[in-house]
Amino acid sequence: MRKLIWAAASIAALALTGPASAQSPVIIKFSHVVATDTPKGKASEKFKELAEKYTGGKVKVEVYPNSTLYKDKEELEALQLGSVQMLAPSNSKFGPLGIREFEVFDLPYILPDLKTLRKVTEGPLGLRLLKLLDSKGITGLAYWDNGFKQMSANKKLVTPADYQGVKFRIQSSRVLQAQFKSLGSLPQVMAFSEVYQALQTGVVDGQENTPSNIYTQKMHEVQKYITQTNHGYIGYVVVVNKKFWDGLPPDLRAACDKAMKEATEYGNSQSAKENDDALEEIRKSGKSELVKLTPAQDEAMRKAMMPVYKDVAGRVGQPLIDEFLKETRGTTN
Ligand code: LMR
Repeated sequence: MRKLIWAAASIAALALTGPASAQSPVIIKFSHVVATDTPKGKASEKFKELAEKYTGGKVKVEVYPNSTLYKDKEELEALQLGSVQMLAPSNSKFGPLGIREFEVFDLPYILPDLKTLRKVTEGPLGLRLLKLLDSKGITGLAYWDNGFKQMSANKKLVTPADYQGVKFRIQSSRVLQAQFKSLGSLPQVMAFSEVYQALQTGVVDGQENTPSNIYTQKMHEVQKYITQTNHGYIGYVVVVNKKFWDGLPPDLRAACDKAMKEATEYGNSQSAKENDDALEEIRKSGKSELVKLTPAQDEAMRKAMMPVYKDVAGRVGQPLIDEFLKETRGTTN
């Protein structure tokens, strides 16, 4: 009898402390939608390497790139259900979850450079935004960079008038929808994994993305022109299932936190170069013409998109937009 109770007690103890104290490692499934050879792909591989190292193999990270496990919308649902533990969706993809505030990062020309971005992501505002995710059963761990977006199409896009009636694929962000509407274009929400084919078959005429995403998805092979607008930013929020994260033994969570911090530093120190290199590869391929805007053309694009700030104030929140601008420009609009 005594033996039986002891056996039951040890099984209960194992269950309480979780699988890490048994022999099998804790598995973190990390799903994302881009190629491995991108800022996000590389940062997630770095996190895997460091988390496994710092936990002495007690945590194993399985990275699933290129939408092999889940596409955009599904991946957030899978995270909430616990089918995957970690993701890094772009700021633009949290709206359908009911968290609209991250769309502030989508406002056209809101970030002049990465240094300015850090003021937000590493400051109190960035922290407060991450906290909003708690109510959805999600913990926000870090901000990862991709970079600045370029416009691509089979038509040469130079002036705002060129955008009239052009069908653009967008991420699931109302700010991006408003941005293209301000140019008279026809925006269409679509999962990242479907963009190449949609461009190839003419379901949409164009899209906006960073050079690294354009190059690794081969979009430049099915787009005649890429206009170097740098009109917006794509970055990511690394998120983890809250119940899973809170349930990790404290020593493993601390080791994973350290791994995340270092992977973030690594990824964010490489992102600009990766995008520069991708742009160079696109240029060398000769498949797509890179179009530069003159200062006057750039100014015209900025002016055309400015109404977006007013259009989305009700959705994102004017106080948040003002706070963001104060951080990034030291002024409000
Ligand atoms: C997109 O959907 O265009 C991007 O957010 C993909 C990504 O994760 O970089």
